[in-house]
Formats: sequence, structure tokens, C-alpha cells
Amino acid sequence: MKLRFLAAAAALTATVLAGPVAAEPIIIKFSHVVTENTPKGKGANLFKQLVEERLAGKVEVQVFPSAQLFGDADEIIALLKNDTQIIAPALSKFSKFTKVLQLYDLPFLFNDLNAVACFQDSASGKEMLDSMSSKGIKGLAYWHNGMKQLSAPVPLRTPEAAAGLKFRIMSSDVLQAQFQAVKANPQKLAFSEVYLALQTGQIDGQENTWSNIYSQKFFEVQPHFVESNHGLLDYMLVTSERFWKSLPDDIRSELDKIVMEVTATVNDLASKENEDAKQLIVDSGKTEIIQLTAEEKGKWRAAMKPVWEQFKGDIGANYVAAAAACSQ
Ligand code: LMR
Repeated sequence: MKLRFLAAAAALTATVLAGPVAAEPIIIKFSHVVTENTPKGKGANLFKQLVEERLAGKVEVQVFPSAQLFGDADEIIALLKNDTQIIAPALSKFSKFTKVLQLYDLPFLFNDLNAVACFQDSASGKEMLDSMSSKGIKGLAYWHNGMKQLSAPVPLRTPEAAAGLKFRIMSSDVLQAQFQAVKANPQKLAFSEVYLALQTGQIDGQENTWSNIYSQKFFEVQPHFVESNHGLLDYMLVTSERFWKSLPDDIRSELDKIVMEVTATVNDLASKENEDAKQLIVDSGKTEIIQLTAEEKGKWRAAMKPVWEQFKGDIGANYVAAAAACSQ
């Protein structure tokens, strides 16, 4: 008995001499579905780097690229269950939680990323970051990827060429309507399944940005691309309201600053990432990239734009008008 008491006293003395036990760092898991050499992949890694420089010992960031931890089907639910703390899904993937973000999928709404930034920096664009707060999702920032390009086994110079073909889409009703508008057959499919589906002929074509087309090697299994720039692929960096509120004030405000800094970097590099990826695809010689004439592009616009009317009510006509004004 006495011996046990002495041992306990010795252990206590040792602990006191060693000083207070260091608090465990807060872990932030950042899960995403793309590779590390894309705008989002680079942004996630830069976020980790800056957090670990500035909040060393207090916060640790673990990045899981390429759907290693969670894929399209489960990442938002995982966020709400606190199994991951930051994700950045494409804006097209939030439609179960809000209808307003469907805005970003309207075909031919934005001419380019400058028009996108014009809207996102406006009061309406910023307001949309809060559109899912009642569902427990907190929008931290918009991250750019870029404009989407179409590909298929046939050259898609005009919308008629797409008729009857099966196109992979993200889980978005606007994108579904967009392909139905050209009499094609849209199929909702997780990002991680697209390459195999193209390779095996489960689907015929796809739409994505050059950086995703390059990093996922879609260009190796699609003989014809058109530089259509018909739609946007952008992200919302989100966390859960619960997790963000649970953070100590000083840590949360440092993280807010880091998010702003990383956002500026990602949004600066996105265009170049896509240009570089396009060049690598050209250099591979494995596929054809067709430039549309103004007339051909006009036909695509005329065929797809009626979709706006279908979704305007759910999105809010004021948002559609404000976003369209950025491309005038
Ligand atoms: C897609 O599913 O095509 C994209 O959302 C993937 C991504 O995150 O860029």
C-alpha cells in the first residue's frame, strides 16, 4: 500500500516538474475530390501550409485529395457529422441544401472568370455564401476553377451533334436541363467514376474544365473537344456552423485571415492552371480541340439559354439579372 502511494506521489512530482501537459492541436480534415495539381488541390495544400506556419502546435490540417476520404456522394454529410471540417464542393453539388446556388450552373451566364468575380464580389454574391446557414453549412469563400468545355466521340460543333449522346453531369438539375435542351441524355455521376465510364462507353461525353480534364486524363478517352466555355465550374469553401463556432476566437479569426489569403491566391492562379492544362493536352497530341466560330457558339447559346426561364423562379430573378449584368 505504502509503496503504491510512493509511486503515485513520484509520478505526480514528475508531472509537476515537467510543467503543464501541452494541449492537443485542433485537427482540421480538408477532404476534396480532385488531384493536387489543380486550383482546388493547390488551394487546400496552401491552406495547410499557412495554418501550420501561423498556428503551429495549435491547429493541424490533414488534406485528403482525390476522394480518398469522402467522395461526391458523402462529403457534405460527412461535414455535417464533423467527420471532415472543410470541403470545397463544386457549386453544382449543393442543390439539396439550397436552390439559389443553381444560379452558377445556368449555361452562358458568365463570359469568363472576371464576370464571375464581378458577381461574387457584389452584395448578392456575398449573400449567397450564407444561403445554407440554416442547414448548418457555413460558406467561407468562393474558389475558382474555370469555364467548362465539352467533349464527345464526335466533333460537337453544333448542338445537333449532341443529340442522343449520354453526357456525364454533376448532381445538378440545371445541368440535366441544359443537356436535355440539346436532346442529349444527361447522367448524374460522381467525379471519381467519370474516367472509367468514358473508357467503357457507359457515357459518351462530358463537360469539365481543362485542369480537371487534364488531371483526370479524360483527354485520353475523348477524341474531340470543343472550347465551348458554356458553363462555370466554381467551388464554395465550406465548414460546418457548429465546428466554426466551437473554435476559440483567436484561432477562428486567424483562420478567417488565412482563408482570405488562400482564396486570393487560388483565384489568381485558376486561369493559368487551366491554360497550362489545355496546352499539355494539345501537346499530348491525343485529342482534337475545336475552336467554335461565333456562329456555332451562337447556336449552342440559343439552344441552352431557355433553361434560365425554368430555374429563374427558384433562384430568384434578381440574382439572375445581377449575374447577367456582369457579362454585359
Ligand atoms: C466534378 O464533379 O466534375 C467537379 O466538381 C470536380 C471538382 O471538384 O472539380
